[in-house]
Amino acid sequence: MTLVMENVSKVYSDGPKEFKALDDVSLELQKGEFVAIIGPSGSGKSTMLSIAGALLSPTSGTVFLDGENTAHLSKRKITEKRLEKIGFVFQAANLIPYLKVRDQLRVINVIAKNKANSKGRELLEHFGLTHRTNNYPNELSGGERQRVAIARALINDPKIILADEPTASLDSQRGREVVELLADEIKSRGKSGLMVTHDERVLDLCDRVVTIRDGRLEE
Ligand SMILES: Nc1ncnc2c1ncn2[C@@H]1O[C@H](COP(=O)(O)OP(=O)(O)OP(=O)(O)O)[C@@H](O)[C@H]1O
Ligand SMILES: [Mg+2]
Repeated sequence: MTLVMENVSKVYSDGPKEFKALDDVSLELQKGEFVAIIGPSGSGKSTMLSIAGALLSPTSGTVFLDGENTAHLSKRKITEKRLEKIGFVFQAANLIPYLKVRDQLRVINVIAKNKANSKGRELLEHFGLTHRTNNYPNELSGGERQRVAIARALINDPKIILADEPTASLDSQRGREVVELLADEIKSRGKSGLMVTHDERVLDLCDRVVTIRDGRLEE
């Protein structure tokens, strides 16, 4: 199991007000498995993904990343682990405006202190971006930007891919292509993927669909 969430709850407190965004959520991701999370706006999907990626800690419950209980790790260790094990893809590609495509990938390598640099070229080629390596984000189409974001998420060869509405900024054809790339990467390289989506047309590319309503999971 690459990602395990056990009885995870999350209460947001805004001063005196409390709001339970996640209520006793459990989920296991197998190697090679691609799971979609769907549910209404405000149901807790992004909260769940943030907790899965240790960007946010649960109020109660446990998260295991690649077998390790994240509750026992220091902030610094969690950061290291996140860099090593997880690739994030967000709704907007979140590229750095002043970096060329190839440097969007390199920057992750630098932060993670990876020496190898050839993987970037390989990924860009795989995603049909070779002719775009010297362009800035504002010179790319939406689909190209999202492909760069996926390539960047994969540069460290993470075991777990977490994607929050990766197709939201794309038309349905481009959106499907992006999810196909994710699915292909997960299947062919034995990774695990968890994707929040509103797009029902891509659900057939996933192995399993879980629904979240008012912070509770239904399968
Ligand atoms: N930092 C926060 N403080 C207080 N409440 C929050 C915070 N973040 C999220 N919430 C609330 O928790 C609930 C779940 O939010 P979340 O972002 O997980 O929903 P979502 O399912 O991703 O929604 P959407 O589909 O609109 O992106 C919402 O009611 C939201 O207002
Ligand atoms: Mg959300």
